[in-house]
Amino acid sequence: MKKGFIFDLDGVIVDTAKYHYLAWKKLANELGFEFTVEQNELFKGVSRKRCLEILLDIGKREATQEEFDTWMVEKNVDYLKYIENMDASEILPDVPKVLQYLKENNIPIALGSASKNAQPILEKVGLLPYFDTIVDGNNVTKAKPDPEVFLLAAKQLGVKPEDCVVFEDAVAGVEAANAAKMISIGIGDKNVLTEANSIFTDFTEINIDFIKNLIEN
Ligand code: BG6
Ligand code: MG
Repeated sequence: MKKGFIFDLDGVIVDTAKYHYLAWKKLANELGFEFTVEQNELFKGVSRKRCLEILLDIGKREATQEEFDTWMVEKNVDYLKYIENMDASEILPDVPKVLQYLKENNIPIALGSASKNAQPILEKVGLLPYFDTIVDGNNVTKAKPDPEVFLLAAKQLGVKPEDCVVFEDAVAGVEAANAAKMISIGIGDKNVLTEANSIFTDFTEINIDFIKNLIEN
């Protein structure tokens, strides 16, 4: 019985939420309204298009299709400037420890992210070689909480969905993993990720015996 491990990117492997926030805040300010760190929580795991829709709701702004498309591009151009100089120092603590253990035990590993910038980020931080396959915002049509991203990752790994383990920091991501009938491991706030099968603040709380147990049982 082969197990597969699927990792979300933003908020699980790297803390890019702060860069997404800065880019959205800049756009909001240009459009004449504020965007807070608390409001940014709503954007976790959510597609770029949906984020802009939520942002415009927050600012009570209407947009023509042309404006909408222009602002989507503008946000991403700014985001790309923030991530341009990312390196291994931005990998969240103890993530490599888990990836290394899985690799040593020949466990297939996938990325399952909503981001269209996932591959360049993995390259910049030097983690790309760990991944057997990458499913991201460029490959899926339905955003989390739809399970499409994780089901496609399982298929590409050649592992049954019920034998997959998903690490997620977003409520929508945990819901997607559960909808795919996978084992969901929440990374973040225990009061937020209540639907996850197990929850940890970060990877420093996860010991190798826990991973070993997931592989064997
Ligand atoms: C998710 C982030 O991983 O990717 C969201 O949690 C983000 O905040 C989404 O909006 C899309 O990212 P990108 O890089 O394609 O704009
Ligand atoms: Mg995330």
